[in-house]
Amino acid sequence: MLRNDQLDQWDHDHFFHPSTHLGQFARGELKNRIVTGGQGAHISDREGNKLLDAFAGLYCVNIGYGRQEVADAIAEQARELAYYHSYVGHGTEASVTLAKMIIDRAPANMSRVYFGLSGSDANETNVKLVWYYNNILGRPEKKKIISRWRGYHGSGLMTGSLTGLALFHKKFDLPLTNVIHTEAPYYYRRDDLTLSEDDFVVHCARELEALIEREGADTIAAFIGEPVLGTGGIVPPPAGYWEAIQDVLKKHDILLIADEVVTGFGRLGTMFGSAHYGIEPDIITIAKGLTSAYAPLSGSIISDKVWKVLEQGTDENGPIGHGWTYSAHPIGAAAGVANLQLLDKLNLVSNAGETGAYLNKAMSDALGDHANIGQIRGEGMLCAVEFVEDRDSRTFFDPSKKVGPSVSAAMLKRGVIARAMPQGDIIGYAPPFCLTREEADTIVSATVDAVREVLG
Ligand SMILES: Cc1ncc(COP(=O)(O)O)c(C=O)c1O
Repeated sequence: MLRNDQLDQWDHDHFFHPSTHLGQFARGELKNRIVTGGQGAHISDREGNKLLDAFAGLYCVNIGYGRQEVADAIAEQARELAYYHSYVGHGTEASVTLAKMIIDRAPANMSRVYFGLSGSDANETNVKLVWYYNNILGRPEKKKIISRWRGYHGSGLMTGSLTGLALFHKKFDLPLTNVIHTEAPYYYRRDDLTLSEDDFVVHCARELEALIEREGADTIAAFIGEPVLGTGGIVPPPAGYWEAIQDVLKKHDILLIADEVVTGFGRLGTMFGSAHYGIEPDIITIAKGLTSAYAPLSGSIISDKVWKVLEQGTDENGPIGHGWTYSAHPIGAAAGVANLQLLDKLNLVSNAGETGAYLNKAMSDALGDHANIGQIRGEGMLCAVEFVEDRDSRTFFDPSKKVGPSVSAAMLKRGVIARAMPQGDIIGYAPPFCLTREEADTIVSATVDAVREVLG
């Protein structure tokens, strides 16, 4: 493409970047990056930099950049039929095929897929469906949704409320009513340092049950959680957590929504995080890895139990009053079909498990003893390094010291993208599943050098 020397200026003057410090960007204190290409685990930018993307975009380009098969599927779909809606029984070959492929991979009790465009809108759909479900069952009071502190479920009105991170609430008048938060399954950050991991699980389940009893089980519709906390710090749950939580939910007849936007389609080395942790959800949220972000597409996978009530609801009330113009967009669906085929053909899910384990071990071997690293944790192709001022007393750094962002910036100078997670001094890694061991070694050595530069 012809070089446009005004592009940087236009970017500063006209482009509203999401999740960005707007003042710093406008003043030029935050440098822009205009990304021009990608191949495998690398992206390239307009300045000629080639960077190893150890976060796969926003943990979404799971098959890696530059896959011709998916590009071809998108182009073919655009030529044949760029768009038709899916209202009133319409669909396309791609969207129907993709629904079948998803159900074939999902837990056994799942039967239908509603398609949206983003993880946020999929979770909005889920909340509406849960409310509808309880209205049809004659339980109009059973409407509150329990989420966890540090959970991430999107940044819409309802989904931003479900998200349990202060930045997403502050000055937006969120959370909305009907959303309540409970303890995050974050053992390293537990308040009571004397608790064993088993005791902490009991504590999380008790906290949940106490919340349910305070609010009244007949006012609570659903619990939503990511199998592994993602944006809240990349935190795998302690052993036994999901069993303990599900026991409480079953006892109080509360639906379970597994938000698998990050974990769905292989990131943990298994097709779904639910299977990985023995979670039996009523609804599953999917997005990112469904198309590896080659086109926007999300979904709500609905269990038989919920579906039957939705059907009954439309028999009583008429067609379901929910839909987007772009639900099941054929181009997204074509990308999804090609993406899932490629995941299978190249064994990328097992590579995520194997190379992810290699990355986690190499990171622990290289940095596990560092005086300012409190924990290195991960699961599958997810890894996190958490910094502390003092390991023994588990004293965290003052956030104003910006240790996490400084390490991430020092890694970038070395050609590796890792994400400073938004709450806490935590560096997160979620590379594409095609990552090689050599690339994993590069990520680790860039981290070691960056940590040395920032913390000594
Ligand atoms: C677990 C989870 N749910 C929902 C979302 C929201 O997805 P989107 O950004 O596509 O709206 C995200 C995004 O990171 C996520 O990680």
